[in-house]
Amino acid sequence: MLNIDLAELQQHSTPLYVYNLPLLRQTLDAAQQEARKYNYHVHYALKANANAPILEAMRTYGFGADCVSGNEVKTAIASGFAPSDVVFAGVGKSDAEINYALDQDIFCFNCESKQELEVLNELAALKGKTARVALRINPNVNANTHKYITTGLEENKFGINAWELESVLELLAQLPNIDLIGIHFHIGSQITDLSVFKNLCTRVNEFQQWFAAHKITLQHINVGGGLGVDYYQPEQQLIPDFASYFNLFHQFLELRSGQQVHFELGRALVAQCGTLVSKVLYIKKGMTTNFAILDAGMTELIRPALYQSYHKIENLSSQLPEERYDVVGPICESSDCFGKAVILPETSRGDLIAIRTAGAYGEVMASNYNLREKAQALYLQDQQV
Ligand code: LLP
Repeated sequence: MLNIDLAELQQHSTPLYVYNLPLLRQTLDAAQQEARKYNYHVHYALKANANAPILEAMRTYGFGADCVSGNEVKTAIASGFAPSDVVFAGVGKSDAEINYALDQDIFCFNCESKQELEVLNELAALKGKTARVALRINPNVNANTHKYITTGLEENKFGINAWELESVLELLAQLPNIDLIGIHFHIGSQITDLSVFKNLCTRVNEFQQWFAAHKITLQHINVGGGLGVDYYQPEQQLIPDFASYFNLFHQFLELRSGQQVHFELGRALVAQCGTLVSKVLYIKKGMTTNFAILDAGMTELIRPALYQSYHKIENLSSQLPEERYDVVGPICESSDCFGKAVILPETSRGDLIAIRTAGAYGEVMASNYNLREKAQALYLQDQQV
């Protein structure tokens, strides 16, 4: 999977993020091939991983950029994304961030509240500009995923609720520097039950009818991201099933003539190409289990601590008979645990451990808690395949 010789890997200091760029390219190729069947536009959600080689690959394969901060907008544009391919979402855009994005003439602001619309109108007016806007609507659809990454329920902070839309239209009539071009939805992340997206389509169709009844033409329908990946058996599905995903929207989303559909995928594009490689520092006997203590911790990959998420763990160095370990990091927190009761070949100090499916929401969520150094990144190119 890593496509790198163990001896070569041992030359690098750990913790180390290893990215398999050929796999990334295959994934992007598959996603674009399926999306283009229906003329869908995919914006890559930079929040999943904003490393330069990843962004370069996204741009090369023709993805736009989905950003949630001024710095993401800056990074996308500095990496060569055309401003006309950049969308800017988020519940809390600061004035400085909005001003920067207005100066760059980005494609669209995904707006999440009435007050944000007012502020955007005011800031655009000061510049003598008109801001293109998609209303982020909270469709109240359950994504059946972890509650921390569920975003499309009325109890969540995201989007404008259906019962507010009437008053949003009244407000928009008084905001001359806003050009309403579309609607936007994003109901959550790591969605593995595709029927959830069918429910989303049903809701989008209802909202479309509502807008049509109000004589409003929407050119752009943005259905967000959220497609999940297989953390349990990554090698069984290194490339997500983009064909079924896009086909589902094609089947169930009712479009009006000339409408363009947009997606904002993050995880599905980059998760499987990244592996966190770490070295075993110590093996320690506990009351009921052995601890394998790694040199990587929640500072490098916080997902298990924050969402109790599963990542497949492998010992790359040992082929001895199997034993059971709690695989933990060095950070002073009991939540700093990558996996409990993990079955691994007998593990010793110095072994290299791979934590799989770490390409999305891994490095970007790293912190320097305990004043830790940032992990290095290694990009595997074709010749190493
Ligand atoms: N669009 C919007 C508006 C979003 O908020 C997100 C993710 C995406 C697109 C991309 O979603 P994806 O295709 O990657 O599921 N840190 C969490 C995930 C947080 C997702 C936040 N929003 C994790 O590690 O699971």
